[in-house]
Amino acid sequence: MTSNNRVAPHLFVVLGATGDLMRRKLLPALFHLAAQGLLKGAALILGAARKTDLDDAGFRAQAREALAADGFSADDLVGRWCDECLFYQPIGLGEAEDYQALAARIAKLEQAHHLPGNRVFYLALPPAAFPSTIVGLGEAGLHRSPGWSRLVIEKPFGRDLTSAQDLNRLLHRYFDESQIYRIDHYLGKETVQNLLVFRFANALFESVWNRDRVKHIRIMVAEELGVEGRAGYYDQTGAIRDMVQNHLMQLLTLAAMEVPEAFDGEAIRREKIKVLRQIEPLDREHVVFGQYIGGRIDGQEVPGYRDEPGVAPGSTTETFVALRLEVTNWRWQGVPFYLCAGKRLPRRLTQIVVAFRCPPVSVFRPFFRCEIDSNVVVITLQPDEGFDLCFEVKAPGQPFSLQTHRLHFRYSEAFGRLPDAYETLLLDIITGDQTLFVHADEVEAAWRLYTPLLEHRLPAYPYAAGTWGPPAAEHLLGDMRGSWGAVA
Ligand code: BG6
Repeated sequence: MTSNNRVAPHLFVVLGATGDLMRRKLLPALFHLAAQGLLKGAALILGAARKTDLDDAGFRAQAREALAADGFSADDLVGRWCDECLFYQPIGLGEAEDYQALAARIAKLEQAHHLPGNRVFYLALPPAAFPSTIVGLGEAGLHRSPGWSRLVIEKPFGRDLTSAQDLNRLLHRYFDESQIYRIDHYLGKETVQNLLVFRFANALFESVWNRDRVKHIRIMVAEELGVEGRAGYYDQTGAIRDMVQNHLMQLLTLAAMEVPEAFDGEAIRREKIKVLRQIEPLDREHVVFGQYIGGRIDGQEVPGYRDEPGVAPGSTTETFVALRLEVTNWRWQGVPFYLCAGKRLPRRLTQIVVAFRCPPVSVFRPFFRCEIDSNVVVITLQPDEGFDLCFEVKAPGQPFSLQTHRLHFRYSEAFGRLPDAYETLLLDIITGDQTLFVHADEVEAAWRLYTPLLEHRLPAYPYAAGTWGPPAAEHLLGDMRGSWGAVA
């Protein structure tokens, strides 16, 4: 994010290079960075995967197809980039000798292309494969290099506090924290990064961003989609592990943190960790789980969660969570934070809503509408990234009445296309900027909060697909009513 840093010549090694993440996210992002001239000099990509009957040419052909499917035209630029920059190395069953062969291929490519030994190892793998891959790389000596060596690991990072601690210990056996990039793709979204600018470059808001002025903060990630062919993963995971422990907690820390002493990775991460440690243990009375049953979205009939292919019969996995928590510090004591995330809701909407306190007394009480709505700042992360400031105005004419209106800012109107989160994050990895990556202490602090909830599970109440979750959530969210107070 702070990357004015120069991109050094490097080798970008993707483990799990024949998988979905590579095809849908990493390849398009790497190609787009290269096409914009942001990768300059030598930036080679070495895909590694179990497939033993694939070679450089076959891998390049797959990449061309994936890029075409992503909307890049099959022109010369795509073809040249694939031929010049992409290579493939099979790692079979991932035995020690497979990693030695990988190390030998890396050395050979670096020599042939005069690379100084700067390496990224991206684990685009299912979580079960993380430990053996980390050991394989470490035992082959790939954690050290003549230049720099960085390891990128996707979420979910562990399943609970103990497994996250084990994974951190294993990583630290070979890699320093300064070499580890734990990805949370939400941190790569422009609006999320802009939250820091919004807060810390505009004294207007920062001076009211506290318990004296804020009534509550809501963070919601509503998805229209269901489990989309990922039932095998999702049914073992659920909404707390898939969304809340990581994405929503990251949003919360950025919304609640103190002003960092500098705009750099370490200072920002230090402040985020403080927030996580200041959250009170969750009160189970303030948590609602839900699971969708069949319903209609956009006029289409959609099946219930338990009828999705791959979901265990009678599964109790939560596809919806609403909860209330408190950050006990001088800035936020007494201000409720409401977090909601769910699948198969009426529409896709990710928002942080900061609701301010109403005036202590309404001088308009004698008139038509005496209740004054609170001023609200809405930060929309998707689908239409931007900010809204809602305030009261007098409706023209008689009788005297108030209406809520908005000032709004939309990124697309001001700047056009926004970079994909992965483009931002990959460039940061390559330039060595850890600001938008999650520190070991953050992951563990978030798991400390949610592990008790996962150990003694709550029942998941049914809700019809296409609704805003079970009625119990409405009760928890109080005055936010049916749509969690979403501001569309
Ligand atoms: C992923 C989750 O991390 O985030 C998915 O595993 C979820 O279940 C996705 O759909 C949401 O991301 P976005 O960027 O579409 O909000």
